[in-house]
Formats: sequence, C-alpha cells, structure tokens
Amino acid sequence: MTTPPRDAAVDLAPVPAGSVLAIRGGRPLRGRVDVKGAKNLATKAMVAALLGETTSILRDVPDISDVAVVRSLLEVHGVNVSEGDEPGSMVFDPSEVESAHFEEIDAHAGASRIPILFCGPLLHRLGQAFIPDLGGCRIGDRPIDFHLDALRKFGAVVEKQPNGIRLSAPNGLKGANIHLPYPSVGATEQVLLTAVRAEGTTELRNAAIEPEIMDLIALLQKMGAIISYEPNRVIFIEGVDELRGYDHRCIFDRNEAASWACAALATDGEIFVGGAKQQEMLTFLNVFRKAGGWFDVQEDGILFRRDTALKPVTVETDVHPGFMTDWQQPLIVALTQAKGRSIVHETVYENRFGFTDALVKMGADIEVHPHGLQNGPRRVARRELEQAAVITGPTPLRAADIVVPDLRGGYSHVIAALTAEGESQVSGVDILSRGYEKFLEKLRALGADFDVVR
Ligand code: EPZ
Repeated sequence: MTTPPRDAAVDLAPVPAGSVLAIRGGRPLRGRVDVKGAKNLATKAMVAALLGETTSILRDVPDISDVAVVRSLLEVHGVNVSEGDEPGSMVFDPSEVESAHFEEIDAHAGASRIPILFCGPLLHRLGQAFIPDLGGCRIGDRPIDFHLDALRKFGAVVEKQPNGIRLSAPNGLKGANIHLPYPSVGATEQVLLTAVRAEGTTELRNAAIEPEIMDLIALLQKMGAIISYEPNRVIFIEGVDELRGYDHRCIFDRNEAASWACAALATDGEIFVGGAKQQEMLTFLNVFRKAGGWFDVQEDGILFRRDTALKPVTVETDVHPGFMTDWQQPLIVALTQAKGRSIVHETVYENRFGFTDALVKMGADIEVHPHGLQNGPRRVARRELEQAAVITGPTPLRAADIVVPDLRGGYSHVIAALTAEGESQVSGVDILSRGYEKFLEKLRALGADFDVVR
C-alpha cells in the first residue's frame, strides 16, 4: 500500500465541516506527535482573562475550534485578542469589556459549554450577563444546576429565558459556603471564577481537583487571587478588589496524550507523545500497562507501544485521581483486540457508550448494560447513572461506513478504522477539530493511510 500524496494544506487546516475520510486500516501507527495545551484548561484560562484589569498572555494554546469559539465570545464582549510573542500564544486586553448584544453572543456560542463560565466574570465587570443555551458532546443530560445554585449563593439573580439565562447582581457578589453534590469540573471552575472577585471569603467543599483545575488555580493566583487548596477537596478563596493579567503556559492535554497512547496499543504501533508528563497520567499509565502496553517516560514526552499481547482489564471511570471518563473511549478500541473479557464501568456520565455501536458494526463484541453490572465491591461508589460495557475479544475489526457521534467517541472511530482490515468511510470528522489540533497532519505523520474524500 502506498501512502497517498501528502496534501499539507488539507492536513494543516482544521478538518473542514462535512469532511469524509477514506481510511485504510491494518497498518501500525509509528512516529511522533506533540500535544499542546489542554483544551479543558486553555478555554477556561481565556475566560479568566476577563477578570484582569490588565493584559493577559496565554501560551501553548491549542489551535482547536473550542478555542476559536471562546475567542469570538471574548471579542463580542469587547476583549481585544491578538497573537502573542511566540507561536501558540494569545494576548487578551480586557480594558474595553462592554455588554454584547444577544444575537452576537448566540451566533458565537457554537457547540461549546464554556459560555456558562462567563457568568461570574461578566457579573463582576458589567453587573449582568446573558448566557445562551449550551452545546457540548451529547454524552448525557449535562445539566447546570450546580452552576446556577452556586451563582445564586453568591447573590446573583438568575432568570431562565427561552434560549438561555439572564443573570444580574443588583447588590454585587459576596463570598459563600458551597458544597457541591458531586466534584463537578465545570461547577468548580464556576465557583473559582466568581469567588476570586467576590466580597469576602468563599468555602468550596467536594471540589473537583483535576490537574486542569489546579492549573486554573495557579493562573488565578498569578492574577492576585488568594486561593488555598486544603485536603479532602476543600478550597478557600478570599475575594480581592482587583486582579491583574497573567502570563501562563497551559498544562499539556492529557486527554489527547492518552488518546494517542491507545492508538499505539490498538494498531500495535509505537508513538512518542511530545509534551506528555507522567504525573498527570499516573492512573492511565497503570491501566495502559495492565492492558499489555509499555511506556517510557522521557524528558520531553512519553513513548507508548504494545509490550505483550493485549490483555483484558476491568476499569471504573471516576473523578481525578481516578481513570478519566475521557480516556475510556480510545481504550475500548484496543480492548476489542485483547483476548478475554474486559469491563468498563462509566460512573461520570449517563450516556457515554453510544460510540460502541459503530465498533459493534465493525465486528467488535461489546455489550452495554445501561444500568451497570450488579457485582461485588467496587473501588468507586456506584452512582444511579452508572453504565457498564463488557468487551469480549479478540474480534477482528472489519471496515465500515461510520458517522462520528462526539469528540472522544469520534477519535475512537478513527482509531478503529485504522485498526480494521479494509477501507472505512468516516464522516462527521470535523468535530475532531474541537479538541485535536492538526489532527489530519498528526495522522499523516504517524503513517496512517487515508484520503479526505469530501
Ligand atoms: C468537563 O466537563 C470536561 N469538559 C469533560 O471533557 C470531562 O469529561 C468532564 O469535565 C469530567 O472530567 C470541559 O472541561 C469543557 P462535570 P463538565 O461538570 O465540566 C454532572 C471532553 O471531551 N453535573 O465534571 O461538563 C454531569 O451531568 C469533555 O473534553 C450535574 O449534574 O463535567 C456529569 O454527570 C467531555 N450538574 C458529572 O456531573 C451540574 O451542574 C460530571 O460533569 C454539572 C455537572
């Protein structure tokens, strides 16, 4: 098989809407990819720039559409956004922040969930905010009740409108005691971005402590915020009157790093992921090794490949430091090739196995149990929304025509097509540009055999 002529222009650009890839599988992925800043930190750091009285600089910003959505939302609110002094850096000048008009905001909200995090900063700066209904991957209901309850506790008035929510803070925002029902990443970010400028102290209990959250705390501290992280998921924030801009380099994207690691496992290849760091991936690396993977931690990244024949594993997704819910989709593709029965319990979202339908169509043996598995003691407390997938392998994957359902599931479909014998047509791949920078260029660099057919 000869690798098709490389069309750099096509590869470098974000995957155009409506693109269809013709992927010829059966070839191991080998080579190097470099991951930039984490999608799930960079987008929040951009919102935090609204809180500063002076200019902020963010470094290692990934060139993905979720970043573009937040950039346009900031610009609609009068923030001047420009390129920084090094590749991948962005400069935010919030000195002209002004209220935007609904139609402009709605046009820019896109399929993102980030607009909900504009509430606190806009209430501090403008005393009001309008947040359009949110997008994001269809992996569950994705409610925002924790966010709205917290904002009300800070003193915000929240009014539901036909296509979004309008908020106001007639008496300003005051520190509050907030105990989250679940360590929600987004709700923790909501509290942090609101409490740092609120009057008085905020105590947040049952907070999320993902590495991206800790990186956001570090960035806010650079701005002059006073935040202390206590044991047992307790965070105290002392509100301050003024914050300055930050100069911050994003933490690396551990979701993208784990995705490429699983691609090496599934295709029996070898991939060096530049920028990946061990500390933030400890749990992933344990599961990767138990599934038959081998990794070598180096100064500037981690080398991933298969070590032995793939082995079945039992995994429960959980909040940090557990096995991330965003890691199970690419892992499951590799587990279809392991000899034996693997079990993945999804405990964070209520509908995150939809992507397995396409894998079954390709020949995988995967049973999804919508109400979990009644079985013995578990490391992770069962939640009423738990689902479980039972994967029995090895089953050769056959090429098929598949439509990408969401970001992480879509990545898995591409890896499955690269693992399968034959040529698969994969459509809807433009969603991958939301979270994977230069996705086609990276696939090409790893020797993947594919064409963009539309
Ligand atoms: C963030 O989503 C990430 N997205 C997700 O990554 C990630 O999977 C998730 O955190 C968990 O780590 C971004 O950061 C943009 P949650 P978020 O609030 O903040 C329930 C990706 O592919 N919940 O921790 O929305 C919720 O329904 C994406 O990069 C409420 O019930 O996640 C879910 O069951 C996918 N009410 C659970 O909590 C609320 O008000 C975890 O959600 C908020 C959340």
